[in-house]
Amino acid sequence: KIKNIQARQILDSRGNPTVEVDVITENNILGRASVPSGTSKGKYETFELRDNKENIFFGKGVLKAVQNVNDIITPELIGKPVLDQIYIDQLMLELDGTINKKRLGSNAILAVSLATAKAASNELNLPLYKYIGGIYTCLLPIPLINIVNGGKHSNASSIVFQEFMIVPIKANSFVEAIQMGHKVFYHLKNILDKKGFSTSVGDEGGFSPNFNGIEDALDHILEAIHIANYVPYDQIAIAIDCAASEFYKNHKYDYSHFEKFEKSENETKNLIKSREEHIRYLSYLVRKYPIISIEDGMDQNDWEGWKLLTHEIGDKIQLVGDDLFVTQAKKLNEGIEKKVANSILIKVNQVGTLTETIETINIAKKNKYKNIISHRSGDTEDSFIADLSVAFNIEQIKTGSLCRSERISKYNQLLRIENALGKYSSYSKWN
Ligand code: PGA
Ligand code: ZN
Repeated sequence: KIKNIQARQILDSRGNPTVEVDVITENNILGRASVPSGTSKGKYETFELRDNKENIFFGKGVLKAVQNVNDIITPELIGKPVLDQIYIDQLMLELDGTINKKRLGSNAILAVSLATAKAASNELNLPLYKYIGGIYTCLLPIPLINIVNGGKHSNASSIVFQEFMIVPIKANSFVEAIQMGHKVFYHLKNILDKKGFSTSVGDEGGFSPNFNGIEDALDHILEAIHIANYVPYDQIAIAIDCAASEFYKNHKYDYSHFEKFEKSENETKNLIKSREEHIRYLSYLVRKYPIISIEDGMDQNDWEGWKLLTHEIGDKIQLVGDDLFVTQAKKLNEGIEKKVANSILIKVNQVGTLTETIETINIAKKNKYKNIISHRSGDTEDSFIADLSVAFNIEQIKTGSLCRSERISKYNQLLRIENALGKYSSYSKWN
Protein backbone atom coordinates (compact mmCIF):
# COMPACT_ATOMS: atom_id res chain seq x y z
CA LYS A 1 0.00 0.00 0.00
CA ILE A 2 1.05 3.59 -0.60
CA LYS A 3 2.15 5.30 2.60
CA ASN A 4 3.07 8.69 1.24
CA ILE A 5 3.74 10.67 -1.91
CA GLN A 6 6.05 13.64 -2.09
CA ALA A 7 6.39 15.90 -5.12
CA ARG A 8 9.04 18.55 -5.73
CA GLN A 9 10.34 20.84 -8.43
CA ILE A 10 13.66 19.82 -10.00
CA LEU A 11 15.40 20.87 -13.24
CA ASP A 12 15.47 19.20 -16.65
CA SER A 13 18.35 19.06 -19.14
CA ARG A 14 17.67 22.62 -20.30
CA GLY A 15 17.67 23.84 -16.71
CA ASN A 16 13.91 24.34 -16.80
CA PRO A 17 11.74 23.20 -13.89
CA THR A 18 10.02 19.84 -14.00
CA VAL A 19 8.16 17.60 -11.57
CA GLU A 20 9.77 14.82 -9.54
CA VAL A 21 7.72 12.50 -7.36
CA ASP A 22 8.58 9.99 -4.63
CA VAL A 23 6.05 7.27 -3.93
CA ILE A 24 6.74 5.53 -0.61
CA THR A 25 5.12 2.27 0.36
CA GLU A 26 4.18 1.02 3.82
CA ASN A 27 7.39 -1.02 3.82
CA ASN A 28 9.29 2.23 3.28
CA ILE A 29 10.16 1.26 -0.28
CA LEU A 30 10.76 4.20 -2.61
CA GLY A 31 9.83 4.77 -6.25
CA ARG A 32 11.10 8.03 -7.74
CA ALA A 33 10.30 9.43 -11.18
CA SER A 34 10.63 12.71 -13.01
CA VAL A 35 8.97 13.89 -16.20
CA PRO A 36 10.43 15.23 -19.46
CA SER A 37 9.27 18.16 -21.56
CA GLY A 38 9.33 18.83 -25.32
CA THR A 39 9.99 21.94 -27.39
CA SER A 40 8.44 20.99 -30.67
CA LYS A 41 5.29 19.83 -28.97
CA GLY A 42 2.32 18.33 -30.75
CA LYS A 43 -0.80 20.46 -30.62
CA TYR A 44 -2.87 17.63 -29.15
CA GLU A 45 -0.57 16.57 -26.34
CA THR A 46 -2.03 16.50 -22.85
CA PHE A 47 -1.74 19.66 -20.81
CA GLU A 48 1.59 20.43 -19.15
CA LEU A 49 0.86 22.70 -16.20
CA ARG A 50 3.25 25.65 -15.81
CA ASP A 51 3.02 28.47 -13.26
CA ASN A 52 3.28 31.22 -15.91
CA LYS A 53 4.84 33.67 -13.46
CA GLU A 54 7.10 35.50 -15.85
CA ASN A 55 9.58 36.65 -13.19
CA ILE A 56 10.17 33.11 -11.89
CA PHE A 57 11.93 30.69 -14.26
CA PHE A 58 10.45 32.81 -17.09
CA GLY A 59 7.04 31.37 -16.33
CA LYS A 60 8.20 27.76 -16.54
CA GLY A 61 7.89 26.93 -12.84
CA VAL A 62 5.85 23.82 -11.96
CA LEU A 63 4.97 24.58 -8.35
CA LYS A 64 1.24 24.39 -9.09
CA ALA A 65 1.67 20.88 -10.46
CA VAL A 66 3.75 19.97 -7.40
CA GLN A 67 1.02 21.35 -5.16
CA ASN A 68 -1.60 19.36 -7.07
CA VAL A 69 0.30 16.17 -6.29
CA ASN A 70 0.87 17.02 -2.64
CA ASP A 71 -2.57 18.46 -1.85
CA ILE A 72 -4.99 16.71 -4.21
CA ILE A 73 -3.51 13.44 -5.52
CA THR A 74 -1.65 12.29 -2.40
CA PRO A 75 -4.60 12.30 0.05
CA GLU A 76 -6.57 10.26 -2.47
CA LEU A 77 -3.84 7.67 -3.07
CA ILE A 78 -2.63 7.06 0.48
CA GLY A 79 -3.58 3.53 1.52
CA LYS A 80 -4.23 2.42 -2.08
CA PRO A 81 -2.48 -0.68 -3.50
CA VAL A 82 0.80 0.29 -5.14
CA LEU A 83 0.70 -2.83 -7.31
CA ASP A 84 -2.58 -1.88 -8.93
CA GLN A 85 -1.24 0.50 -11.58
CA ILE A 86 -4.44 0.59 -13.63
CA TYR A 87 -6.50 1.48 -10.57
CA ILE A 88 -4.07 4.19 -9.46
CA ASP A 89 -3.98 5.75 -12.94
CA GLN A 90 -7.76 5.55 -13.22
CA LEU A 91 -8.18 7.27 -9.86
CA MET A 92 -6.00 10.15 -11.01
CA LEU A 93 -7.90 10.47 -14.29
CA GLU A 94 -11.18 10.67 -12.35
CA LEU A 95 -9.69 13.16 -9.94
CA ASP A 96 -8.64 15.32 -12.86
CA GLY A 97 -11.91 14.90 -14.71
CA THR A 98 -10.87 16.70 -17.91
CA ILE A 99 -10.07 15.28 -21.35
CA ASN A 100 -6.52 16.57 -21.53
CA LYS A 101 -5.50 16.58 -17.82
CA LYS A 102 -5.93 20.31 -17.65
CA ARG A 103 -6.99 20.46 -14.03
CA LEU A 104 -4.09 18.68 -12.33
CA GLY A 105 -1.57 18.84 -15.18
CA SER A 106 -0.22 15.84 -17.07
CA ASN A 107 3.20 16.53 -15.57
CA ALA A 108 1.73 16.03 -12.06
CA ILE A 109 -0.20 12.88 -13.03
CA LEU A 110 2.59 11.28 -15.06
CA ALA A 111 5.21 11.72 -12.34
CA VAL A 112 2.95 9.89 -9.86
CA SER A 113 2.06 7.22 -12.41
CA LEU A 114 5.69 6.39 -13.22
CA ALA A 115 6.85 6.62 -9.59
CA THR A 116 4.07 4.21 -8.61
CA ALA A 117 5.33 1.62 -11.10
CA LYS A 118 8.87 2.04 -9.80
CA ALA A 119 7.78 1.72 -6.18
CA ALA A 120 5.83 -1.43 -7.06
CA SER A 121 8.80 -3.00 -8.84
CA ASN A 122 11.06 -2.18 -5.90
CA GLU A 123 8.46 -3.57 -3.50
CA LEU A 124 8.55 -6.89 -5.39
CA ASN A 125 12.30 -6.66 -5.83
CA LEU A 126 11.92 -7.01 -9.58
CA PRO A 127 13.72 -5.02 -12.27
CA LEU A 128 11.33 -2.37 -13.62
CA TYR A 129 11.18 -3.92 -17.10
CA LYS A 130 10.28 -7.32 -15.63
CA TYR A 131 7.63 -5.83 -13.38
CA ILE A 132 5.97 -3.99 -16.27
CA GLY A 133 6.47 -6.57 -19.01
CA GLY A 134 6.47 -9.91 -17.25
CA ILE A 135 8.06 -13.14 -18.25
CA TYR A 136 8.51 -12.63 -21.98
CA THR A 137 10.79 -9.60 -21.88
CA CYS A 138 14.11 -10.19 -23.60
CA LEU A 139 14.44 -7.86 -26.60
CA LEU A 140 16.85 -4.92 -26.67
CA PRO A 141 15.76 -2.11 -29.01
CA ILE A 142 17.62 -0.71 -31.99
CA PRO A 143 18.70 2.80 -30.98
CA LEU A 144 17.96 5.65 -33.38
CA ILE A 145 21.04 7.61 -32.40
CA ASN A 146 20.80 11.35 -32.87
CA ILE A 147 23.81 12.78 -34.67
CA VAL A 148 22.71 16.16 -36.09
CA ASN A 149 20.24 18.58 -34.50
CA GLY A 150 18.35 21.13 -36.54
CA GLY A 151 14.99 22.90 -36.47
CA LYS A 152 13.86 24.01 -33.05
CA HIS A 153 16.50 21.94 -31.27
CA SER A 154 19.34 24.19 -32.29
CA ASN A 155 19.44 27.84 -33.19
CA ALA A 156 23.00 27.50 -34.49
CA SER A 157 22.08 24.92 -37.06
CA SER A 158 20.82 26.01 -40.43
CA ILE A 159 18.56 23.10 -41.29
CA VAL A 160 14.83 22.96 -41.25
CA PHE A 161 14.52 19.26 -40.34
CA GLN A 162 14.84 18.70 -36.62
CA GLU A 163 16.73 15.43 -36.25
CA PHE A 164 19.16 13.28 -38.18
CA MET A 165 19.84 9.88 -36.66
CA ILE A 166 22.00 6.87 -37.42
CA VAL A 167 20.51 3.40 -37.08
CA PRO A 168 22.86 0.47 -36.41
CA ILE A 169 20.62 -2.19 -37.86
CA LYS A 170 23.18 -4.92 -38.25
CA ALA A 171 24.57 -5.41 -34.81
CA ASN A 172 24.58 -8.61 -32.84
CA SER A 173 23.85 -6.94 -29.54
CA PHE A 174 22.84 -3.63 -28.05
CA VAL A 175 26.35 -2.99 -26.82
CA GLU A 176 27.70 -3.54 -30.34
CA ALA A 177 25.07 -1.16 -31.73
CA ILE A 178 26.21 1.54 -29.32
CA GLN A 179 29.83 0.96 -30.23
CA MET A 180 28.99 1.26 -33.95
CA GLY A 181 27.09 4.48 -33.30
CA HIS A 182 29.94 5.82 -31.22
CA LYS A 183 32.39 5.22 -34.06
CA VAL A 184 30.29 7.12 -36.59
CA PHE A 185 29.52 9.90 -34.08
CA TYR A 186 33.22 10.54 -33.45
CA HIS A 187 34.18 10.24 -37.10
CA LEU A 188 31.61 12.91 -37.88
CA LYS A 189 33.03 15.08 -35.11
CA ASN A 190 36.46 14.68 -36.63
CA ILE A 191 35.28 15.53 -40.14
CA LEU A 192 33.47 18.63 -38.89
CA ASP A 193 36.45 19.69 -36.83
CA LYS A 194 38.83 19.36 -39.78
CA LYS A 195 36.55 21.44 -42.00
CA GLY A 196 36.33 24.18 -39.41
CA PHE A 197 32.70 23.50 -38.51
CA SER A 198 31.50 23.87 -34.95
CA THR A 199 31.26 20.60 -33.01
CA SER A 200 29.06 21.94 -30.24
CA VAL A 201 25.83 20.02 -29.71
CA GLY A 202 22.12 20.80 -29.67
CA ASP A 203 19.35 19.89 -27.22
CA GLU A 204 19.47 16.16 -27.92
CA GLY A 205 23.24 15.95 -28.16
CA GLY A 206 23.67 15.89 -31.95
CA PHE A 207 26.09 18.24 -33.67
CA SER A 208 24.59 21.46 -34.94
CA PRO A 209 27.02 23.24 -37.24
CA ASN A 210 26.02 25.73 -39.86
CA PHE A 211 25.48 23.19 -42.64
CA ASN A 212 24.59 24.34 -46.11
CA GLY A 213 21.14 22.76 -45.92
CA ILE A 214 19.66 19.30 -45.49
CA GLU A 215 21.67 17.47 -48.13
CA ASP A 216 24.93 18.90 -46.85
CA ALA A 217 24.10 17.42 -43.43
CA LEU A 218 23.20 14.05 -44.98
CA ASP A 219 26.38 14.04 -47.10
CA HIS A 220 28.49 14.59 -43.98
CA ILE A 221 26.73 11.81 -42.08
CA LEU A 222 27.19 9.46 -45.03
CA GLU A 223 30.87 10.35 -45.20
CA ALA A 224 31.23 9.50 -41.50
CA ILE A 225 29.53 6.13 -42.04
CA HIS A 226 31.93 5.39 -44.90
CA ILE A 227 35.03 6.46 -42.98
CA ALA A 228 33.90 4.29 -40.05
CA ASN A 229 33.92 1.45 -42.56
CA TYR A 230 30.27 0.55 -42.38
CA VAL A 231 28.10 -0.25 -45.35
CA PRO A 232 25.28 2.31 -45.55
CA TYR A 233 21.84 0.70 -45.53
CA ASP A 234 23.22 -2.71 -44.72
CA GLN A 235 24.93 -1.95 -41.45
CA ILE A 236 24.10 1.62 -40.59
CA ALA A 237 21.15 3.46 -42.05
CA ILE A 238 19.75 6.97 -41.51
CA ALA A 239 16.51 8.11 -39.88
CA ILE A 240 15.17 11.65 -39.89
CA ASP A 241 12.55 13.58 -37.95
CA CYS A 242 11.29 16.45 -40.10
CA ALA A 243 9.06 17.76 -37.27
CA ALA A 244 7.09 19.22 -40.17
CA SER A 245 4.45 20.87 -37.95
CA GLU A 246 7.13 23.41 -37.05
CA PHE A 247 7.47 24.74 -40.60
CA TYR A 248 3.99 24.25 -42.04
CA LYS A 249 2.60 27.71 -42.69
CA ASN A 250 -0.41 28.76 -44.74
CA HIS A 251 -0.76 25.27 -46.22
CA LYS A 252 2.86 25.30 -47.39
CA TYR A 253 5.98 23.59 -46.16
CA ASP A 254 8.18 26.59 -45.61
CA TYR A 255 11.88 25.68 -45.48
CA SER A 256 12.98 29.28 -45.90
CA HIS A 257 12.83 30.48 -42.32
CA PHE A 258 15.25 27.90 -40.96
CA GLU A 259 17.62 27.51 -43.86
CA LYS A 260 19.83 30.46 -43.05
CA PHE A 261 22.47 30.08 -45.70
CA GLU A 262 22.82 32.74 -48.38
CA LYS A 263 20.08 32.34 -50.95
CA SER A 264 19.08 34.07 -54.11
CA GLU A 265 15.50 35.21 -54.52
CA ASN A 266 14.85 32.27 -56.79
CA GLU A 267 16.16 29.79 -54.26
CA THR A 268 13.98 31.29 -51.56
CA LYS A 269 10.94 30.66 -53.73
CA ASN A 270 11.94 27.01 -54.09
CA LEU A 271 12.16 26.71 -50.34
CA ILE A 272 8.44 27.34 -49.91
CA LYS A 273 6.98 24.06 -51.03
CA SER A 274 3.47 22.88 -51.73
CA ARG A 275 2.41 19.60 -50.11
CA GLU A 276 3.20 17.76 -53.35
CA GLU A 277 6.60 19.42 -53.80
CA HIS A 278 7.51 18.63 -50.19
CA ILE A 279 6.56 14.97 -50.67
CA ARG A 280 8.50 14.84 -53.92
CA TYR A 281 11.54 16.18 -52.10
CA LEU A 282 11.20 13.57 -49.34
CA SER A 283 11.00 10.73 -51.86
CA TYR A 284 14.00 12.16 -53.68
CA LEU A 285 15.93 12.11 -50.38
CA VAL A 286 14.89 8.50 -49.79
CA ARG A 287 16.20 7.55 -53.23
CA LYS A 288 19.46 9.43 -52.79
CA TYR A 289 20.35 8.49 -49.21
CA PRO A 290 20.11 5.35 -47.05
CA ILE A 291 17.09 6.72 -45.21
CA ILE A 292 14.91 4.03 -43.67
CA SER A 293 12.65 6.07 -41.42
CA ILE A 294 10.97 9.48 -41.61
CA GLU A 295 9.16 10.87 -38.57
CA ASP A 296 6.57 13.65 -38.83
CA GLY A 297 7.19 14.06 -42.54
CA MET A 298 3.93 16.03 -42.72
CA ASP A 299 2.13 18.52 -40.48
CA GLN A 300 0.00 17.16 -37.61
CA ASN A 301 -3.23 18.37 -39.23
CA ASP A 302 -2.35 17.66 -42.84
CA TRP A 303 -4.05 14.27 -43.04
CA GLU A 304 -4.35 14.56 -46.83
CA GLY A 305 -0.60 15.08 -47.03
CA TRP A 306 0.00 12.13 -44.73
CA LYS A 307 -2.15 9.94 -46.97
CA LEU A 308 -0.19 11.02 -50.05
CA LEU A 309 3.16 10.49 -48.35
CA THR A 310 2.12 7.04 -47.08
CA HIS A 311 0.93 6.12 -50.54
CA GLU A 312 4.17 7.38 -52.08
CA ILE A 313 6.80 5.79 -49.80
CA GLY A 314 4.92 3.98 -46.99
CA ASP A 315 5.72 0.57 -48.46
CA LYS A 316 9.44 1.39 -48.76
CA ILE A 317 10.32 2.97 -45.44
CA GLN A 318 9.11 3.51 -41.90
CA LEU A 319 6.81 6.55 -41.56
CA VAL A 320 6.47 7.60 -37.94
CA GLY A 321 3.67 9.68 -36.45
CA ASP A 322 4.83 11.76 -33.49
CA ASP A 323 2.90 15.07 -33.35
CA LEU A 324 0.36 13.31 -35.55
CA PHE A 325 -0.61 10.64 -32.99
CA VAL A 326 0.67 12.21 -29.72
CA THR A 327 0.75 8.68 -28.18
CA GLN A 328 -3.03 8.73 -27.95
CA ALA A 329 -5.24 5.75 -28.76
CA LYS A 330 -7.91 7.86 -30.43
CA LYS A 331 -5.48 9.54 -32.80
CA LEU A 332 -3.70 6.29 -33.58
CA ASN A 333 -7.00 4.56 -34.35
CA GLU A 334 -7.86 7.40 -36.71
CA GLY A 335 -4.51 6.94 -38.46
CA ILE A 336 -4.98 3.18 -38.75
CA GLU A 337 -8.43 3.66 -40.21
CA LYS A 338 -7.18 6.22 -42.73
CA LYS A 339 -4.11 4.09 -43.52
CA VAL A 340 -1.79 6.90 -42.59
CA ALA A 341 1.86 6.31 -41.52
CA ASN A 342 2.98 2.84 -40.43
CA SER A 343 4.66 3.53 -37.08
CA ILE A 344 4.13 5.54 -33.92
CA LEU A 345 6.46 7.42 -31.60
CA ILE A 346 5.66 6.68 -27.96
CA LYS A 347 6.26 9.54 -25.52
CA VAL A 348 4.88 8.97 -22.03
CA ASN A 349 4.25 12.65 -21.36
CA GLN A 350 2.21 13.17 -24.52
CA VAL A 351 -0.53 11.04 -22.98
CA GLY A 352 0.21 11.31 -19.28
CA THR A 353 -0.16 7.93 -17.57
CA LEU A 354 1.59 4.58 -17.86
CA THR A 355 -1.73 2.78 -18.38
CA GLU A 356 -2.71 4.91 -21.38
CA THR A 357 0.80 4.57 -22.83
CA ILE A 358 0.51 0.78 -22.67
CA GLU A 359 -2.94 0.93 -24.28
CA THR A 360 -1.52 2.84 -27.26
CA ILE A 361 1.48 0.49 -27.56
CA ASN A 362 -0.89 -2.48 -27.70
CA ILE A 363 -3.14 -0.92 -30.34
CA ALA A 364 -0.08 -0.31 -32.51
CA LYS A 365 1.12 -3.88 -32.04
CA LYS A 366 -2.26 -5.34 -32.89
CA ASN A 367 -2.41 -3.31 -36.09
CA LYS A 368 1.18 -3.98 -37.13
CA TYR A 369 2.27 -0.39 -36.60
CA LYS A 370 5.81 -0.22 -35.23
CA ASN A 371 6.33 1.36 -31.80
CA ILE A 372 9.34 3.58 -31.16
CA ILE A 373 9.85 4.58 -27.54
CA SER A 374 11.08 8.15 -27.25
CA HIS A 375 12.63 10.72 -24.93
CA ARG A 376 11.87 14.48 -25.12
CA SER A 377 14.26 17.28 -26.02
CA GLY A 378 14.05 18.45 -22.41
CA ASP A 379 14.71 15.33 -20.36
CA THR A 380 16.09 14.20 -17.01
CA GLU A 381 18.37 11.49 -15.72
CA ASP A 382 15.32 9.26 -15.24
CA SER A 383 15.74 6.16 -17.41
CA PHE A 384 12.16 4.84 -17.19
CA ILE A 385 11.75 4.64 -20.98
CA ALA A 386 14.69 2.24 -21.30
CA ASP A 387 12.84 -0.27 -19.12
CA LEU A 388 9.59 0.47 -20.91
CA SER A 389 11.07 -0.48 -24.26
CA VAL A 390 12.36 -3.84 -22.99
CA ALA A 391 9.13 -4.49 -21.06
CA PHE A 392 7.17 -4.73 -24.30
CA ASN A 393 9.94 -6.06 -26.55
CA ILE A 394 9.77 -2.85 -28.54
CA GLU A 395 12.09 -2.86 -31.51
CA GLN A 396 13.30 0.73 -31.46
CA ILE A 397 14.18 3.51 -29.05
CA LYS A 398 14.99 7.13 -29.81
CA THR A 399 16.88 8.70 -26.95
CA GLY A 400 19.41 11.14 -28.31
CA SER A 401 23.06 11.16 -29.19
CA LEU A 402 25.99 9.50 -27.48
CA CYS A 403 26.71 12.42 -25.19
CA ARG A 404 24.86 14.40 -22.49
CA SER A 405 24.01 12.47 -19.35
CA GLU A 406 20.22 12.74 -19.68
CA ARG A 407 20.53 10.84 -22.99
CA ILE A 408 23.22 8.44 -21.81
CA SER A 409 21.22 7.45 -18.71
CA LYS A 410 18.79 5.57 -20.99
CA TYR A 411 21.59 3.89 -22.96
CA ASN A 412 23.33 2.93 -19.74
CA GLN A 413 20.16 1.37 -18.36
CA LEU A 414 19.77 -0.66 -21.57
CA LEU A 415 23.40 -1.79 -21.25
CA ARG A 416 22.63 -2.89 -17.67
CA ILE A 417 19.54 -4.77 -18.79
CA GLU A 418 21.37 -6.50 -21.63
CA ASN A 419 24.07 -7.45 -19.18
CA ALA A 420 21.56 -8.79 -16.65
CA LEU A 421 19.66 -10.80 -19.27
CA GLY A 422 22.94 -12.25 -20.54
CA LYS A 423 22.39 -15.10 -22.95
CA TYR A 424 18.62 -14.64 -22.71
CA SER A 425 18.78 -11.22 -24.33
CA SER A 426 18.46 -10.58 -28.05
CA TYR A 427 18.93 -7.51 -30.20
CA SER A 428 16.10 -6.39 -32.45
CA LYS A 429 16.12 -7.11 -36.16
CA TRP A 430 15.11 -4.38 -38.57
CA ASN A 431 12.18 -5.52 -40.65
P1 PGA B 1 10.44 17.49 -28.58
O1 PGA B 1 11.10 16.83 -29.86
O2 PGA B 1 10.73 16.65 -27.41
O3 PGA B 1 11.06 18.85 -28.54
O4 PGA B 1 8.95 17.57 -28.89
C1 PGA B 1 11.22 15.47 -30.03
C2 PGA B 1 10.56 15.01 -31.28
O5 PGA B 1 9.96 15.81 -32.03
O6 PGA B 1 10.60 13.83 -31.58
ZN1 ZN C 1 9.35 14.13 -33.50
